[in-house]
Amino acid sequence: MKTTPLHPRFGVRIDGVDLRRVSAADGFPEIRALFEEHSLLLFKDQQVDDAEHVRLCRLFGPMEDRSQGEPDPEPGEIGGVTNLRADGTLASAGDLRTLNLQANMLWHTDSTFLPVPALINMIVPRVLPSEGGATEFASARAAFERLEPELQARLEGTFLWHRYSHSRARISPALARQGIFTMWPDQCWRAVWENPVNGRKSLYVASHAYGVEGMGAAEGQAFINDLLARATAPDNVYAHRWAIGDVLAWDERAVLHRGTPWPYEQQRTLGSYCTTAQESDGLASIRPTDWSARNRELLEVFPR
Ligand SMILES: [Fe+2]
Repeated sequence: MKTTPLHPRFGVRIDGVDLRRVSAADGFPEIRALFEEHSLLLFKDQQVDDAEHVRLCRLFGPMEDRSQGEPDPEPGEIGGVTNLRADGTLASAGDLRTLNLQANMLWHTDSTFLPVPALINMIVPRVLPSEGGATEFASARAAFERLEPELQARLEGTFLWHRYSHSRARISPALARQGIFTMWPDQCWRAVWENPVNGRKSLYVASHAYGVEGMGAAEGQAFINDLLARATAPDNVYAHRWAIGDVLAWDERAVLHRGTPWPYEQQRTLGSYCTTAQESDGLASIRPTDWSARNRELLEVFPR
């Protein structure tokens, strides 16, 4: 495998591998080591169908299940990284699906609102518009490493509360009221995720974060906004322009991302699957203390 940096601080393109031939014993150990080191992996000119996409994700961990046992947790008019509706037409400007895609254009890491957050997202683009629609990435590891030492120390003792509907409400109150965004209880995570393989620490924050333990509502949101703004400074961002044949996977512990607009009269469909983080991925480093888990005062400040 030959690697080429995508950005001075994170991300590599990996050449010399046919992902269809990669297995847990053959090829994946090297890929996993590159993932731990570089956070964002790009493979070009791959032939990965949907079944192969799922198989590759499973090498990283269990597939994320957002269903909570419900057969259709993402009804056809909202879910998926696509503007193609279930009835075969393209979503127009005010559709819930379009609004949800716009909410994905806020900087975030996936699934911080789930009881167990994601480890990876792996994307295989299926239909691309003629222009626009890049996905932007920022290194949350580089972001943490360049903060002042005093702030780093403070963040290691800071807990953030996350709620899916919070990021949706910033785009549309009607979107935020949909059941798929309100079905999860609020989650509390430490603001720093330590990688258990190499000990490097990342800022763990997202558009879904609505409150900071020990701060009032406005102060907490301002603190979160400041962290996100610092983390996503232009010199810390890599913009990926998709091509058919790409397979791109990133470390949700160490990378922030957002979508960007494209002409909505054109279809854009990305195959996207997340895997769930496991204890071996360092979940213990973000898990709330007994004290923070019990501290529900914020929930009174932020009624659902
Ligand atoms: Fe996302």
